[in-house]
Amino acid sequence: MSDITKQIDLVTGNRRMRRYRGSEWMRSMVQETHLSAADLIWPIFVIEGENKTENIEAMPGVERMSVDRAVEAAKHARDLGIPAIATFPNIDYAKRDKTGSEILNPDNLINQTTRAIKAAVPEIGIITDVALDPFTSDGHDGIFEDGEIVNDKTVEVLAKAAILQAQAGSDIIAPSEMMDGRIGIIRQALDDAGYQSVAIMSYAAKFVSGFYGPYREAIGTSNFLKGDKNSYFLNPANPNEAIRDAALDVQEGADMMMVKPGLPYLDMCLRVKEEFGLPTFAYQVSGEYAMIKAAAQNGWLDEERAMMESLMAFKRAGCDGILTYFAPRAAELMKVK
Ligand code: PBG
Repeated sequence: MSDITKQIDLVTGNRRMRRYRGSEWMRSMVQETHLSAADLIWPIFVIEGENKTENIEAMPGVERMSVDRAVEAAKHARDLGIPAIATFPNIDYAKRDKTGSEILNPDNLINQTTRAIKAAVPEIGIITDVALDPFTSDGHDGIFEDGEIVNDKTVEVLAKAAILQAQAGSDIIAPSEMMDGRIGIIRQALDDAGYQSVAIMSYAAKFVSGFYGPYREAIGTSNFLKGDKNSYFLNPANPNEAIRDAALDVQEGADMMMVKPGLPYLDMCLRVKEEFGLPTFAYQVSGEYAMIKAAAQNGWLDEERAMMESLMAFKRAGCDGILTYFAPRAAELMKVK
């Protein structure tokens, strides 16, 4: 025995961690965390028109698509074993106004999309966002009046919008604007309208973030968003406030939780999962996608490896699933194996 060997044995009592790593079969046998297509939720961007797609500059490989194309995407997702799609609209500028009134049009782009997908691919889950930002002329998630985002008035509109989304066939309502009291009021509104079986996925811990930039290009708000969202999203420095806010969502009846952005907030994923034990999801947001894409396009990192490693990180941190623009790519990759 060499000196170094003796020393290791003395300290560790013959424990050699590398026994777990010596062969592919052993690594597979002791693997603690698993990722599958069932863990993925695919966010898509929808535009008006027919048989139309548009590139999003800051999100290479992601397209805005017309409703008929969204239906095709939903079929593709189903075939890959992706359980659900989350839809985000980019509506005509002419339809955006101060109060986001288009969100209350029963036949708006988002509800049209839900109806079309539900008719063609009933076996896939539809998650719809309720927030005003795709509908307001200032790009804010709530109603902006006299220099502030008005909470209760906004929530009233969101509750009505949630009913219309449920009516169109949405399975999960996902409030993403961080207004106070929204989960309880939306739950009540859904129940009163007979939609007890429609679930609520709360964007429970949503932080102010620089990583949302490409999304704002995707839904067309980056040009006119005034100011910041600091008065309603969480301060990235405040994990305890995030938990207190999330706790209210649980009390108010959230069925599942989301942490957003994803990778920079893995600590919050773990804490939200441990604290509440609800199904917990992370949103790997547009900027996170763009970072990996941009580096890969420069040949600076291996896109597939970085993608899969980042998705596995969410599972390791306790998430039950991930909203990710990589969903079809990752599912495709896992199918091959
Ligand atoms: C706001 C909303 C945001 C995203 C989805 N809905 C954040 C924002 O624009 O402030 C971001 C999604 C992403 O970056 O991928 N309701």
